[in-house]
Amino acid sequence: MSASLLQRSLSAVWHPCTQMKQHETLPLIAIKRGEGPWLVAEDGQRYLDAVSSWWVNLFGHCNAHINQRLREQMEKLEHVILAGFTHEPVVRLSEELAALTGHALGHAFYASDGASATEIALKMSVHYWRNSDRPAKTRFVSLAGSYHGETVGALAVTDIALFREAYAPLVRAAATVASPDARTAETGESARDVAIRAAAELERFLAEHHHETAALIVEPLVQCATGMAMYDPEYLRRARALCDQYEVHLIADEIAVGCGRTGKFFAVEHAGIWPDFLCLSKGISGGYLPLSLVLTTDTIYQAFYADEVARGFLHSHSYTGNALACTAALATLEIFRDDNVLLANEQRASWLAQAAGPIAAHPAVHHLRQQGMILAFDVEATPGFARRFHAAALAEGILLRPIGNTVYWMPPYVLDETLCAWLGARTLAALEKALAE
Ligand SMILES: Cc1ncc(COP(=O)(O)O)c(C=O)c1O
Repeated sequence: MSASLLQRSLSAVWHPCTQMKQHETLPLIAIKRGEGPWLVAEDGQRYLDAVSSWWVNLFGHCNAHINQRLREQMEKLEHVILAGFTHEPVVRLSEELAALTGHALGHAFYASDGASATEIALKMSVHYWRNSDRPAKTRFVSLAGSYHGETVGALAVTDIALFREAYAPLVRAAATVASPDARTAETGESARDVAIRAAAELERFLAEHHHETAALIVEPLVQCATGMAMYDPEYLRRARALCDQYEVHLIADEIAVGCGRTGKFFAVEHAGIWPDFLCLSKGISGGYLPLSLVLTTDTIYQAFYADEVARGFLHSHSYTGNALACTAALATLEIFRDDNVLLANEQRASWLAQAAGPIAAHPAVHHLRQQGMILAFDVEATPGFARRFHAAALAEGILLRPIGNTVYWMPPYVLDETLCAWLGARTLAALEKALAE
């Protein structure tokens, strides 16, 4: 049964981010059900979902509370067009998110996936400047190694060659400035020094290009897809001040780092700043349903509020503000409150750090780093390491997908001390196996 399902998948399903030919040697895994942090395969094998299924799952698979809320909502309303209509879940979610920003970002615009949220922020920024009689401000700047999604518009601010090269003729690439990646510290430099150095480069760029620059877009604190590049919050403080000084919007892409992942609900809170646009997706629905949104300020909102239709933000997606997705998000926020998740994650993050101790001591491991519920390390290894490690980890019962030579944990917020220790021991075993091959 399982084998035929795999065959049917290979012939009918074009899998994402995959060179399909590699499945000639690395078989697909068919998952039958999820139980908390575990994925249970058709053949009964269990895998710890240590990457939260592409960084989306926060409170485990088949979470009883989210399931219950979804069942209740399903009996009332599954979806309604959000143009000209509204509903309780989308209103409550918008209000609750605004409250989480202290009402600094009081207007929520919805879409379904992360890349669309990026595009909405980019479009809103340019349209704001047009509505404000500054039509020359149409360019963007992002950080070296940035990742903000893979649609054609989002690729403009994504600086990862593998994802962009084939589509270069379609993309109007943004400028890039130095990443404040703490690993680039020179001898005697702290992470904060690196942040200050990178911010100085940003200042030079903005001094020269602010007339045509609409926005700077950043992944606050952790540039995830480039390989968990972590940096000091001082960069965000300086970027905020520079954006104010040069009249450039600051877009915080919190699609991966939002929802408690870095230790605070929003990663920008570590820097004590708010951006002009904040993009959220992935964890906001608890990993249940596609949902993304952009939060923005009253100043931005007011620039679109006018008699002329064309001054409005006319962007739309069919499933904008889907009632079930918003309900999953509300249930997710309930769990954050009821279980005091941010506090519990401080303990959980320290269990992860302890579990990583023996890994840090391995001679092939460098730059072991952590920001809240993200822990990563780089491995000195021969080419093909990522695939070898992925396969070795699966054999140990863990789902881990290294990015190049960077191995990372980004688990759901449900692991206890024993499971963290288990994850550490199994990851080390997989590392030794992958290095020996
Ligand atoms: C920082 C960041 N922005 C945007 C995206 C794109 O989100 P999606 O895959 O839902 O389009 C991702 C996805 O990994 C991301 O990490």
